[in-house]
Amino acid sequence: MAASSVGHENWSSRSAFILAAVGSAVGLGNMWRFPAEAGENGGGAFVLFYIFCVLLIGLPVLLSEVLIGRHGQANAPESVRRVARDSNASGGWGVIGSIGVFAAFLILSFYCVVGGWVVYYIGVFAGDLFQTGLTGGAFEGRAAEDIEGLLPGLFGNGGLMAGLNLGFLAVTMFFVARGVSSGIEWVAVYLMPLFFMLFLGITIYGAFTGNFSEAVAYLFTFDFSKLTPEVMLAAVGQAFFSLSLGVAGMMTYGAYANRDTNLGETSGIIAGADTAVALLAGLAIFPIVFAAGLSASAGPGLMFQSLPIAFQAMPFGSLIGLAFFIMIFFAALTSSVSLLEAPTAWTHERFKITRPSATIIVGLGAAILGVLSALSFNDLAEFYPLGFIPLFAETNFFDTLDGVTAKLFMPIGAILTCVFVGWVADARLIDDENGLDGALHLLWRVLVRFVCPTVLAVILVMGLLA
Ligand code: PFF
Repeated sequence: MAASSVGHENWSSRSAFILAAVGSAVGLGNMWRFPAEAGENGGGAFVLFYIFCVLLIGLPVLLSEVLIGRHGQANAPESVRRVARDSNASGGWGVIGSIGVFAAFLILSFYCVVGGWVVYYIGVFAGDLFQTGLTGGAFEGRAAEDIEGLLPGLFGNGGLMAGLNLGFLAVTMFFVARGVSSGIEWVAVYLMPLFFMLFLGITIYGAFTGNFSEAVAYLFTFDFSKLTPEVMLAAVGQAFFSLSLGVAGMMTYGAYANRDTNLGETSGIIAGADTAVALLAGLAIFPIVFAAGLSASAGPGLMFQSLPIAFQAMPFGSLIGLAFFIMIFFAALTSSVSLLEAPTAWTHERFKITRPSATIIVGLGAAILGVLSALSFNDLAEFYPLGFIPLFAETNFFDTLDGVTAKLFMPIGAILTCVFVGWVADARLIDDENGLDGALHLLWRVLVRFVCPTVLAVILVMGLLA
């Protein structure tokens, strides 16, 4: 176990840090939301703008966040305060970390609900494999409506959904309670390589058995007339969610990085890997969906409904379906671990209680919110917690948490981070940490000071008016 001078554990190596951070970034956002958003927002135009957002806004903010964490070597609010203190600025900037920690806690609660759906599909495909054997297509003899109906069937069963959600959360808690090196790092070092192997296998399978050329044309034909403000808004939001930004996750992981890690380079690797996985997820899912003659624009149902139907006609359908959802499970778990770690590290250090106790306290809170989210698909469908605010009128618990974090917390956290790093923090301190020089350094500074806060402010306002 590597311990830093300030008492908390550090990553055992730079590659462990990269794997953990890529594990945080690569998750349901890449595999479920990215193809769904691309499909709903016209394909190529969304994809191109997405890449643009990652490079010009996501990457500079990512570097800013890990840099604050590495300098502070503590939980997110305390790290920001330490950077502020060393810059002779007000400790009040610590609020950036507090907003992030709270947002991570909220996201965790509903992220584990979707994690529960993934577990359900693992069960469905495992059962199907048992029945049909190794080589057959999935769900032999069952009508498409039947397969499509699995998800609404699950939604209708509040008890099952809540149970699966709690199961997923419990696994997440187990690893976070074990600590940075024997829990969080362990998950990343073992599960991420397994994820990548399954992922490549399925992409190659899709390329050979599915309609690969149609998928490529769909994702990479840029029709600029489709680039509406809504599409742009969706792309920036997706880039932020996918890179785990604005919610203290990357600050917290940055705090476990060693002094000799070049943060500029490492951030580039993390953003590059995350984007590559999102694009490849499109190239894994769309060929299979197109080969079955299904539509790209099924939205959230793309992965949970269209894909299972498509597996029906494919050779080895049950087996590939099972492998696919196990792969998604690994990706989701390494992300939920980082979502839990941000509030847990804070609770652990702030109240000086043991890590397992902190994990249990945060986990219990997330369990309560998670059950309410799970029930918002059935028993609590008509419960609108912020219904008195027009933006959230007729919005159930799950969608309210998603909306509040995506539309308010993430952009506000990111804007404040840019203002803090770009304008408030001591420039020498920042330059010491960022690992950049020459033109790249200048570019990063311009982006963090001017471009990112401006674009993010526009996003914030547009999101609130939409
Ligand atoms: N980046 C994760 C995904 O794409 O699924 C979600 C996420 C993880 C968001 C951790 C924020 C975070 F702190």
